[in-house]
Amino acid sequence: MSVAKKYCVIGHPVAHSLSPEVQNAAFEKLGIEAVFEKVDVQPDELGAFMHRFRSVYDGCNVTIPHKEKVIEYLDELSDDARLIGAVNVVVTENGRLIGHNTDRYGAMTALAEGLCGKMNGKNVIVLGAGGAARALVYGCLRAGANITILNRTLANAKTLADAFNQIRKDENIENFHVIKYGSLDDWNVEQCDLLVNTTPVGMEPGIDSAPIDILHGRSEISRTNFTVMDIIYRPLFTKLLRDAQEIGAKIITGDTMFLHQAARAFELWTGQKAPLEIMRKILTKELFV
Ligand code: ATR
Repeated sequence: MSVAKKYCVIGHPVAHSLSPEVQNAAFEKLGIEAVFEKVDVQPDELGAFMHRFRSVYDGCNVTIPHKEKVIEYLDELSDDARLIGAVNVVVTENGRLIGHNTDRYGAMTALAEGLCGKMNGKNVIVLGAGGAARALVYGCLRAGANITILNRTLANAKTLADAFNQIRKDENIENFHVIKYGSLDDWNVEQCDLLVNTTPVGMEPGIDSAPIDILHGRSEISRTNFTVMDIIYRPLFTKLLRDAQEIGAKIITGDTMFLHQAARAFELWTGQKAPLEIMRKILTKELFV
């Protein structure tokens, strides 16, 4: 008799996550005997949890705030995860823990669907400097965008900018532009084509907060061709996106990135093509009830 596989999403907080609903529906659709659960892992419990992990789980999603910290507990990283410096998917293979990054793929697919244009030469501001920001920055840079990282803690924005500027030198990548950085107060819409929030500000239950006030200086903004993306998907319409709509900006909600990173994760765990439409249907049902 085959033993059901076991997967989870780890994070703190993690209650908002729709990974179990989406992944369990995909397993069921393909007749795969597996269960997916969520586990709230506090930052100081991560080491102990990961030591137990390999004997219990076949894989997991990793979310805020563990995407970078989890790396020290893994045996191997995919090329993308190593370059990005963040892991959002772990696969247990013959007792070894392999870290992957499917956030970059999810984010770039969402941007491709939402922007209806090329990223090349676009001026992008990324809010936040954590694991999700790393995937966004790397993806946007590879696509030839000009990036500015703005973060609450300036030192973390500098660390991230320095790391990717170094990668640019090491790999001699021609279309990389030097990354700039600043604090959230340095927000300025001038020459910003795309703003992406990767911080948790605005996530349930704090739905009336935004990482920056884009309504401030709205006359300037209304003259700009401007898109705002939030990677938060609960709520779908965060305060940042509601404000963006108010000033006539185009918005990209967090569900598309979530869906595509989840589909890639499913494929890494099962080796089978993800049933994207059923995953999309469940996500839509959960987000629009
Ligand atoms: P993830 O791996 O999901 O990206 P993370 O690594 O914990 O999560 O990163 C969270 C990011 O959101 C960080 O850039 C963090 O800023 P700091 O570097 O100052 O910690 C940012 N962040 C978290 N809470 C925030 C808040 N209340 N206001 C502004 N930024 C916040």
